[in-house]
Amino acid sequence: VASQPKRPKHILEAQQFGNDPTLLRKVFSLAEFFEKGGESDCMQGKILASLFYEPSTRTRLSFESAALRLGGRVIGTENAEQFSSVVKGESLPDTIRIISGYADVIALRHKDDNAAEDAARVASVPIINAGSGAHQHPTQALLDLYTIERERGTFEGLTVAFVGDLRHGRTVRSLAYLLGKFSQRKIIFASPSDLCVGQDIKDYLKERGVNYLETDILGTDVLSADVVYMTRMQSERHEGAQNKNAYEQFQLTGRIAKTMRNTTILHPLPRNNEILPEVDTHPNAAYFRQARNGLWVRMALLQLMFA
Ligand code: CP
Repeated sequence: VASQPKRPKHILEAQQFGNDPTLLRKVFSLAEFFEKGGESDCMQGKILASLFYEPSTRTRLSFESAALRLGGRVIGTENAEQFSSVVKGESLPDTIRIISGYADVIALRHKDDNAAEDAARVASVPIINAGSGAHQHPTQALLDLYTIERERGTFEGLTVAFVGDLRHGRTVRSLAYLLGKFSQRKIIFASPSDLCVGQDIKDYLKERGVNYLETDILGTDVLSADVVYMTRMQSERHEGAQNKNAYEQFQLTGRIAKTMRNTTILHPLPRNNEILPEVDTHPNAAYFRQARNGLWVRMALLQLMFA
């Protein structure tokens, strides 16, 4: 009899899904079940609170859609900074204590790096980190990994290149941490020199024996990787002026994409102009499929919590 994975109490960081391979397999098999039209009413009588202190399209609406499709109901605020008692000075811990009494699970997006951990300390219901500052976005990493497996047949033994603002991008951090739990051929970080990936990620990959390299150009090693993960400039997290010229060198145009014959192109979205719309028809441009996969993966996570 196959061992059953321990269901997570909270979802706080991506790497927690790399510690138990049976848990990741369970999430992916449930996601595939929902992708193929499978149904469940595991959230009948349950309520998801979506508590967003920062804007979102994909994460908030796919979580809400997931809960509704699973028979649950949804309460929440799409702009807690403006439309909740945060305006009157209420702290995050107090807000979480209160909402814990109204809902069965809380999806939290917040500008502070430690918000999800702080919330989990006082919550009496599960906290799902729906993006915390420049720190983590674990459910995005899961849908990214699911997409890589759907597009490539595997998420192991690959060369994965991350491109863009790697200093402030929480999706890059979460996916790099998760990929590092499995054997990879190489991870490439391509960014302007002032937006390079954090030392903690590099230390972690070194510790785990994952081969990585850094570059400040969009060169052939990046463009011939198995997966290229593009990201936008995270302007909302920048202090001071941005060097837009440095960033323009990392733009994926139709002409460049034509040279990428066997590379899966991902982007967590939203995009600005780092992938031009002319790339969208490239057969390996998988970013809209990736966003759709977010729904299946989030349904799978809620199923894991409530079934
Ligand atoms: N990828 C992502 O987190 O998108 P949203 O900000 O729209 O949720």
